[in-house]
Amino acid sequence: MVYRPREDSRLLKQAVTSLDLEDKKFLDMGTGTGYIAEAALEQGADVTAVDIDPEAVDRARDRLPSNADVIQSDLFTDVQNDFDVMAFNPPYLPESRGGSTATVSGRDGARVSQRFLGECTDHLEDDGVVVLVVSSRNGLATEGFETLCATDLWFERLKVVRVQDRF
Ligand SMILES: C[S@@+](CC[C@H](N)C(=O)[O-])C[C@H]1O[C@@H](n2cnc3c(N)ncnc32)[C@H](O)[C@@H]1O
Repeated sequence: MVYRPREDSRLLKQAVTSLDLEDKKFLDMGTGTGYIAEAALEQGADVTAVDIDPEAVDRARDRLPSNADVIQSDLFTDVQNDFDVMAFNPPYLPESRGGSTATVSGRDGARVSQRFLGECTDHLEDDGVVVLVVSSRNGLATEGFETLCATDLWFERLKVVRVQDRF
């Protein structure tokens, strides 16, 4: 089932729309319904949206105008281009019964995020910006990352971080 925009999606949108995206090459990794990609398009970005889930890719293609490039790919496997700005609301919860590709990622919830951080540098322009959703419920090390915005839910703290000092 395609992930419907929730608090994490809205938090990432808040962070993304605070950036200058005019004419920037923007990647919405894990686009789901295309919610973040649509916001970036409205900010004047040149948008590529990627998802591993073919149903999400269909949904995003339906939602987004034809000038957005929508690609089915496991992270960067089938992505050719480089980007000025990348945004990712990843699956970030530890594996559990009923979890899906959209929500869970390994025993500590950080596997896809770690893979993304390891691979994104090969597709990032000089001075490129990477923003990532992280949860207090997963094991991703975020020391040194700048927090752009955060929200406390009853069961977790969600943050959008700007990735730096990793590259
Ligand atoms: C939490 S949902 C976010 C959806 C949307 N960006 C939003 O904020 O509402 C995570 C998305 O990442 C996608 N995803 C999970 N693993 C992926 C991978 N290895 N490569 C690309 N997309 C992936 C899922 O299919 C899902 O659509």
